[in-house]
Amino acid sequence: MKKLILILIFFGFYFGSNAQNTAVLWPDSAKTIINKNIYGHFAEHLGACIYGGFYVGENNTKIPNKNGVRLDIVDALKKLKIPNLRWPGGCFADTYHWKDGIGPKPKRPSMVNTWWGGVTEDNAFGTHDFLNMCELIGTEPYISGNVGSGTVQELKDWTQYVNLAEGTSPMSNERQQNGRQKPWDVSIWGIGNEAWGCGGNMSPEYYVNIYRQYTTFMSAGKKGLFRVASGANSDNYNWTETLMKGIPGYMMEGLAMHHYSVINWGDGKKSDAVDFTENEYAKTMKEALKMEELIVKHSAIMDKYDTKKKVALVVDEWGGWYNVEKGTNGGFLYQQNTIRDAMIAGTTLNTFNNHADRVRMANLAQIVNVLQAVILTKEEKMILTPTYHVMEMYNVHQDAKLIPLTIKSKEVILDGKAFQSISASASKNANGLTHITLTNIDPNNSQEINLETKGIKFKTIKGRILTSELLTDHNTFENPNKVQPKIFDGTTVSEHILKVKLPAHSVVVLELE
Ligand code: AHR
Repeated sequence: MKKLILILIFFGFYFGSNAQNTAVLWPDSAKTIINKNIYGHFAEHLGACIYGGFYVGENNTKIPNKNGVRLDIVDALKKLKIPNLRWPGGCFADTYHWKDGIGPKPKRPSMVNTWWGGVTEDNAFGTHDFLNMCELIGTEPYISGNVGSGTVQELKDWTQYVNLAEGTSPMSNERQQNGRQKPWDVSIWGIGNEAWGCGGNMSPEYYVNIYRQYTTFMSAGKKGLFRVASGANSDNYNWTETLMKGIPGYMMEGLAMHHYSVINWGDGKKSDAVDFTENEYAKTMKEALKMEELIVKHSAIMDKYDTKKKVALVVDEWGGWYNVEKGTNGGFLYQQNTIRDAMIAGTTLNTFNNHADRVRMANLAQIVNVLQAVILTKEEKMILTPTYHVMEMYNVHQDAKLIPLTIKSKEVILDGKAFQSISASASKNANGLTHITLTNIDPNNSQEINLETKGIKFKTIKGRILTSELLTDHNTFENPNKVQPKIFDGTTVSEHILKVKLPAHSVVVLELE
């Protein structure tokens, strides 16, 4: 037995003995609101996210659309209740000159998308297209400004163009000439992206000054500005420390951090999105579960400079990153999405919820056809991925009050490090409903967990579950509903204990009324 365990540990994967799984919910300590913006998304000019994804153009297409934006995608995103959408990048943002994307489309200049496949960007989808699309979806725009190769004047003009009332400035006049009377009132702005890398390879000290300079000249609309500083890559704690020290609190509402769940085998080789082993599953989950440590450590640094937690930690890029699908452009980052991705989404969203006092915004990378997408398209067809379903099941937590919980579950050793096999978060919404989301990452064993509900009064329990036979199961254009949520009846109640039987690799949401 000992030998077997050692072998399993050697291969990066081991699930410990069947200890009692328990969670205690503390409704009397509920005080923090889970900001709905934690459930945000990200759309970059990358591969088929915009062109061939959201945007099919007004002419020469049979796909139902409004001003070129696919209506089936709009409907699916409305159901998801996406609170905000980040655009136009990513790395692309620091190459993007927004004035090239306004005015009559045939007259717009082209550019090369140097980061993503070297393809021609004809600027057909620009500021009006994006902001009108956000209105159609009912989501708040989050614009990433160009700091890497742009100018202070460009960002200043962009904020005036979208935020100032009609007739008040040359920029708002130009907006009117281009067909939009009222300002869109864009509040959320990223001041560059990954300034430590594709956004300009800056040192944190240099970026601090750049940030202060750029933000000085931005114009707010009625909602005011929510300015997000370009944040650390994963565990670059020095980046966070330098920014918190150098940027006064009144100049920054959010500080970003990016973390992807990726295995690098060398030479750019990663795990395949569908054809992966259990060992690769363990390594990917280890990276995903690192989010907890990252949030705790970045938050501790932020706490030193911002004791009242005024500055939000904004995880504006997260998700699984695999090899591109065979036969697709290496620069387009198109990948399938399996139950493994559902596990990443379930555990990560629980982590964000449980740290809602500091994490007040996050953006899954990316929304359509890129990385851990919620939607994949192929010509007129569209499928919803397992990640879509998890995001939809969890949206009950949006703007609800977090119920703190303590959890102890069977240990899982992933690539030499111990984690809990079950993650959970709970909240109470404005209608008095309590929701509990649970994810069991054990690939092979069901887990039973006892939830002590500590005075939460309820008469009925409704549940939904997302799982499938294999970790590698996914939806395809031929079989679009292989993985989808089903009714869950794995609960029993006795006294104040709610027993939940979670199948292997499953995500469950419970509603207590
Ligand atoms: O999401 C893909 C890329 O990953 C983004 O453009 C960049 O910000 C990050 O490195």
